[in-house]
Amino acid sequence: MRFEESKVLQHLPKQFFANLVAKVNAKAASGADVINLGQGNPDQPTPDFIVKAMQEATADPADHKYSLFRGMPRFKQAAADFYKREYDVDLDPEKEVAILGGSKIGLVELPFALLNPGDTMLLPDPGYPDYLSGVALAQVKLELMSLSADQHYLPDYQKLDPNVVEQAKLMYLNYPNNPTGAVATSEFYEDTVKFANEHHIGVVQDFAYGAIGFDGKRPISFLQTPGAKDVGIETYTLSKSYNMAGWRVGFAVGNSDMIEAINLIQDHLFVSLFPAIQDAAVAALDSDQSSVKSLVALYQKRRDEFYAAARKIGWEPYPSGGAFYAWMPVPKGYTSEEFADLLLDKAAVAVAPGTGFGKSGEGFVRVGLLIDEPRFTEACERIGELGLF
Ligand SMILES: Cc1ncc(COP(=O)(O)O)c(C=O)c1O
Repeated sequence: MRFEESKVLQHLPKQFFANLVAKVNAKAASGADVINLGQGNPDQPTPDFIVKAMQEATADPADHKYSLFRGMPRFKQAAADFYKREYDVDLDPEKEVAILGGSKIGLVELPFALLNPGDTMLLPDPGYPDYLSGVALAQVKLELMSLSADQHYLPDYQKLDPNVVEQAKLMYLNYPNNPTGAVATSEFYEDTVKFANEHHIGVVQDFAYGAIGFDGKRPISFLQTPGAKDVGIETYTLSKSYNMAGWRVGFAVGNSDMIEAINLIQDHLFVSLFPAIQDAAVAALDSDQSSVKSLVALYQKRRDEFYAAARKIGWEPYPSGGAFYAWMPVPKGYTSEEFADLLLDKAAVAVAPGTGFGKSGEGFVRVGLLIDEPRFTEACERIGELGLF
């Protein structure tokens, strides 16, 4: 028997980066010593104390049972305590916290949980490509907010088409930003709350890189903005702050209606997470955060070293404020994709073309600072030999 995928699945977006991975693999298979700066997978191990907490929890029979559908109260309490301690945000752990099997799940399921087919949602361009999966699964209409370096990659709400704004029901933001490394200001978040209230638009701020800020500046949480909880939520992940990308654990916090919608859809899709993972997450969130400080110091060092190596060959970066990427301009005469192809072909250096994150990513490539310094200095030297800058 043959089976056809449903129409919804047939309309899922094509995975732009699958193509990049195939090109990189083909280059490596040809024997080239590829320096891969194209990925976004944290390279450091999960801190020991979290691994140990997980090991202990897996040995506890209490953790072998089904979790409560909406997750363990102690994890929700730890998430609320974390937001209070780190951002001075008050949260009701039962009504304003939803446990997620990685923030991607929340971001993808939310349009389905909150919107009806044909409703309109606003996404940033460039932006994290997986948001598009949620658009397709929920069969909603997508409108893009074009971001640019001139505007520090913050959307200019005044410039959006008023008809689109009138239709829009949900909007995603992401600061510190993937792919650009841009960060949000409190003034911008205040404008966002005002805009959302005026037009009745729900806000989802993706805080995946919330822990990673540079030059001594700590990224602010959207929920620190007065009125933010009335209009939206923030998603948080342990993937980046604690190098737990493979563990699949995160949470959403904020507006209780949106949190309820997430919890309701998850009641039907999952039975929360393996309790031992939730216990390990509690250990991470309750810790003194010294592991996070060391990690941020490492990314800061790498960013500075990469910038220095790039500047040495005349390649001037867009100055990032957070996340673990460098957003690098493409020399004249090339598209992002042509430039990325050229670097792979001639220098065996893989970078992600900006257009993989949307049309407005044209003119840039994203470099992941997820390898150690000698390799990306070598990458810059190889690129310098091409004489493009
Ligand atoms: C902007 C952004 N949001 C969300 C995620 C998803 O993170 P996770 O599902 O691991 O929590 C990522 C992962 O790369 C990301 O870059």
